[in-house]
Amino acid sequence: MNILMIGQKGLPSRSGGVERHVDFLARGLATRGHRVIVLTLGTFDLFHAGHVRLLERCRLLGSVVVGLNSDAFVERYKGRPPVVPYEARAIVVAACRYVDEVYENDGPGRDIIDEVRPRLIVVGSDWQDRDYMAQLDVDAAWLSERGIVIVYVPYTAGISTTQLREAAW
Ligand code: CTP
Repeated sequence: MNILMIGQKGLPSRSGGVERHVDFLARGLATRGHRVIVLTLGTFDLFHAGHVRLLERCRLLGSVVVGLNSDAFVERYKGRPPVVPYEARAIVVAACRYVDEVYENDGPGRDIIDEVRPRLIVVGSDWQDRDYMAQLDVDAAWLSERGIVIVYVPYTAGISTTQLREAAW
């Protein structure tokens, strides 16, 4: 199994909410007290509350490595650079209490996944109906060989970099 969804369209949250499911999953994965490595990838531009909640959930699952998209990758992917340059984004993300390490990510994800060797890759549920594996340039077999599971956690409604950008300019 490569994909797990928590909350929203995923596991029902009636019996205690998202945090309880996340905690349950974390306990199941932790072997002999060792925390699992959780990788989450993104640009984290104009760092906001939705990013913090995502990172908080990552931390509930294990040690958090952020694969922070480089300016060049963002420009290639979105056709324009981020508002905040890489070095400044890295300072902010690294200062978040839920983050253990920040790596620069300069491609779709496959290389950084191979470097970090996470047990889990966590992403917001805005990716749930899109092909996140294709985005990472991996497939189910590639993930299975490495024992990696993709976990979708609920997207925080009402805030995004795009919305902030549009509101400010
Ligand atoms: N994320 C989230 N809730 C939000 C915004 C982002 O859970 N309100 C999650 C995304 O699903 C992703 C991570 O945070 O796993 C980084 O997202 P990123 O694309 O950097 O931020 P966005 O605000 O979604 O940026 P944009 O508007 O440019 O898509």
